[in-house]
Amino acid sequence: MKTNKKITLLSGDGIGPEVSKEAEKLLTVIEDQFNYKIDIEKKDFGGIAIDNHGVPLPEDTLKTCQKSDAVLLAAIGGPKYDNLPREKRPESGLLGLRAGLNAFANLRPVMVFDSLLDSSTIKKEMLQGTDLLVVRELTGGVYFGKPKGIEVRNNERVGFNNMIYTESEIKRIAKVAFEIARKRKKKVTSIDKANVLDVSQLWRDVVIETSKNYSDVTLEHLYIDNAAMQLIRNPRQFDVMLAENLFGDILSDEAAMLTGSIGMLPSASLGDGKYPAIYEPVHGSAPDIAGKNLANPIAMTLSIAMMFKYSFNDEKVHDAIFNSVKKVLNAGYRTKDIYEEGKDGVTPSLLGTKEMGDLICKNLFLPYLRFSSI
Ligand code: IPM
Ligand code: MG
Repeated sequence: MKTNKKITLLSGDGIGPEVSKEAEKLLTVIEDQFNYKIDIEKKDFGGIAIDNHGVPLPEDTLKTCQKSDAVLLAAIGGPKYDNLPREKRPESGLLGLRAGLNAFANLRPVMVFDSLLDSSTIKKEMLQGTDLLVVRELTGGVYFGKPKGIEVRNNERVGFNNMIYTESEIKRIAKVAFEIARKRKKKVTSIDKANVLDVSQLWRDVVIETSKNYSDVTLEHLYIDNAAMQLIRNPRQFDVMLAENLFGDILSDEAAMLTGSIGMLPSASLGDGKYPAIYEPVHGSAPDIAGKNLANPIAMTLSIAMMFKYSFNDEKVHDAIFNSVKKVLNAGYRTKDIYEEGKDGVTPSLLGTKEMGDLICKNLFLPYLRFSSI
């Protein structure tokens, strides 16, 4: 009996279609190797949806997403859309998708692969063994708080947004962080700015209250500015970093640089189970390298691994994908963003998007890497 899954694929813009092609290839191999029947429905989203339908998130796209088992999103945006009114921009579509699927828990794992230690700008002695997870609240805070806008007061323009959190919003994301920490190294670092912001004080209070049900998990608190510093100073101290929307956005880009390239980072955005989760590389649409076979498909690949783990409860496929990526990296294969000449006497092999995708597919079921395979 095959396991049936329905995935909505949103390829989006820039390098999105290229890394999506690799995703489709990988999913076909998974179907064969692991007995799945995967239906992929492709929908316009982001800039391409603006071009074709005049809005970044057409209703039909959202409806299709809502009815699927998981949503796989590549990347959206581009300079062409930067001057549109805010609600018409690709980024507004992304916020609409997150809200429309109630995807409040954004998981961004940051693993440093030993084979890529030289690709980071941080000293490798500090990086080795880093394995942390940013749990970012995704549907609240200053991204969504009202009132917001730009208006004229006393003859000058005033711009304002609101960082608002309800107790229940904080509690549900804190629970996600504690539950996951329980299965990892049992430590949660909650990030806030409680020395200045009232909303952060409530955040801290509710996180502490929630922690009472998780006495096996250690809880510590850091102000966002200190957390940003600690992340570079000693990233190994962290296990789960829990943060509100904007703080998590900033910290996860910072954490990405520990891995050498933002092209390595996957993410999952989970809701309350009513709607499917979204799986998405942390990187953007990189219009400057689009269509040149230069993009790193690994973030997309690892996002698929997360999809199997979190939406399909299949750790076997998750591990197979993950190990395949590891094997390919250990054997010295690199896309341009993680290519580093001649360190430790090893000459890496430079690959394009497609060739990297091919190798990951091949190694999914090979017991070891055949160097002659490309
Ligand atoms: C991210 C991105 C988005 C965000 C943008 C594109 C709206 O930076 O997913 O981290 O700020 O959430
Ligand atoms: Mg971001």
